[in-house]
Amino acid sequence: MKGLPNLCVQLAPQHPNGLTLSNPVIIASGIAGYGIDYGKIADIQKLGAIICKGTTLVPKEGNAQPRLVETARGLLNSVGLENIGVDTLIGEKAPIWAGWQVPVIVNVAGETIDEYAAVASKLEGVRGISGIELNISCPNVSAGGMEFGVDPKLAAQVTSAVKAATTLPLIVKLSPNVSDIKEIALAVEGAGADAISLINTLKGMAIDIEQRRPCLGNIVGGLSGSAIKPVALYMVFEVAKATHVPVIGCGGIACAEDALEFIMAGATAIQIGTAILTNPQLGLDVLEGIDRFMRRHDIQNLTELIGVARA
Ligand SMILES: Cc1cc2nc3c(=O)[nH]c(=O)nc-3n(C[C@H](O)[C@H](O)[C@H](O)COP(=O)(O)O)c2cc1C
Repeated sequence: MKGLPNLCVQLAPQHPNGLTLSNPVIIASGIAGYGIDYGKIADIQKLGAIICKGTTLVPKEGNAQPRLVETARGLLNSVGLENIGVDTLIGEKAPIWAGWQVPVIVNVAGETIDEYAAVASKLEGVRGISGIELNISCPNVSAGGMEFGVDPKLAAQVTSAVKAATTLPLIVKLSPNVSDIKEIALAVEGAGADAISLINTLKGMAIDIEQRRPCLGNIVGGLSGSAIKPVALYMVFEVAKATHVPVIGCGGIACAEDALEFIMAGATAIQIGTAILTNPQLGLDVLEGIDRFMRRHDIQNLTELIGVARA
């Protein structure tokens, strides 16, 4: 190998400013809040990016407790987009992010197309924010969220509306709770998404047989963790084949080998969610593991590995 492996990736090649990450390892939305407390226990500045908790126009309290239940190699959550609202995010969190080296991407959620666009407009020109991830895939809210992500027309409409409201790079996050993920991916690509991330959680439930009641206060929740990795990997493979924008893989990544599978399936970058809850240092472990793999196989640029399993 001629020099150090180059792990840089470009998430928005069609955007005038681009969205260049120093490496492909991203912390998924909903796992580390706004990254600030998490930054006290993990060296976040070395990561590729951090995505904050889904953010709405006004603060939300979220769903009834209990909201988390462990399942076989997975986690069911029904948090329901509890968040501080976009104004507090701009006033209190973005000024801290502005001093960080690691780019922060804001996960945007809403109940109507106008609400999504209004949140995006408010983020316009705010220092400390490097991009928007549009959450059209949350299964845990009664209005908005996933309903936009399961209908190609609505998915395109909300993507166009947000694209018109922002000059930030726009990532659209897809739901796996559909029969044809490619159809939704093509719809949001056509409507101006700079990149596509997938997958959000799969709808699921668990029952406490002693109580004879559903375990979650909200009855239904979203399944994440290792249990969903093969589903996520397949969907990333399909979407990367069908579209021409960068794809960000997410779902059950728990080690560098998992991350490399997603990259070989066609992901330009990856997000780690649930597995961070058991190992807060996992982002850096995955980064080091990818670096070791590249050295071992004499790979100079990570981009050489993207999609190689599709050939
Ligand atoms: C507790 C929890 C909260 C989440 N909150 C959000 C959210 O606010 N917005 C979002 O787009 N995804 C959210 N997600 C989904 C994750 O970002 C990710 O897409 C999903 O968990 C699959 O990845 P994983 O298996 O690595 O966790 C949440 C997941 C969990 C477990």
